[in-house]
Amino acid sequence: MLYASGVACGYGGRPVVEGFEARLGRGELLFLLGPIGSGKTTLLRCLGGLYRPLRGTVLVEGKPIHRLTPRERARLVAYVPQHPPRSCLRVYEAVLLGRYPYRGALGPDSRGHVVVERVLEMLGLGGLAGRRLCELSGGQLQKAMLARALAQEPRLLLLDEPASSLDPRSRLEVMRLLRRVAGEEGVAAVIACHSLDLAARFADRVVMLSGGRPVASGPVGEAFTPENIERTYGLRVEILWRRGRPVVVPLD
Ligand SMILES: Nc1ncnc2c1ncn2[C@@H]1O[C@H](COP(=O)(O)OP(=O)(O)O)[C@@H](O)[C@H]1O
Ligand SMILES: [Mg+2]
Repeated sequence: MLYASGVACGYGGRPVVEGFEARLGRGELLFLLGPIGSGKTTLLRCLGGLYRPLRGTVLVEGKPIHRLTPRERARLVAYVPQHPPRSCLRVYEAVLLGRYPYRGALGPDSRGHVVVERVLEMLGLGGLAGRRLCELSGGQLQKAMLARALAQEPRLLLLDEPASSLDPRSRLEVMRLLRRVAGEEGVAAVIACHSLDLAARFADRVVMLSGGRPVASGPVGEAFTPENIERTYGLRVEILWRRGRPVVVPLD
């Protein structure tokens, strides 16, 4: 689904991220962890084809993402930015924009409204369909942006801190929903995230970035060691195991 090898990306020819590697299969969730400024957003934009890598290869379903037309790319990959633009579109219209890559010469695609209704329902946004984006809470806006990405019916979702404005219950609900969509529809996702708890619970694998370099990658159970977490965040921790999952407890 996603194959990235030797990826370096950055700004003005200067790399911010180097040596990124990933192989992600259908339905798998990869969590991208690392402190602020470690390059998560830059990398997601590069994986989504918004920035050309300085070096390396990014393939989505075997296709070089940077050589596709915007329309082809949008059918494969949906990107949800960390700070969504706060327009005053209504939720329904904003989510319907996700169908843009499927429109024909004569107007919207025939399945558009069906897909939008289904996605709004899935995210519990049915009651907010008529509200304007600029009148939503941060968490509702995050859900609406996720709805738009799902309406795109991509093969790969790139989510930049999708749970950062959500309350504890909504975070779990959104992550469970992603897990379900991934499982049922074979969609893969790369999720930049600051929550080690969510990663421990939902990630099939993680990549931990520090200063733009991957310091660890693999299944959570292997990557979450006190050494790797200290190298990533400069934080001394103890790892406890509860219900078969690692729980990271800071020692400082
Ligand atoms: N448009 C830009 N131009 C130049 N440097 C940038 C730009 N965006 C981000 N950076 C720099 O790239 C580094 C990584 O940023 P970013 O990818 O946003 O990290 P993260 O998402 O992990 O917080 C930071 O040092 C940041 O200042
Ligand atoms: Mg970021």
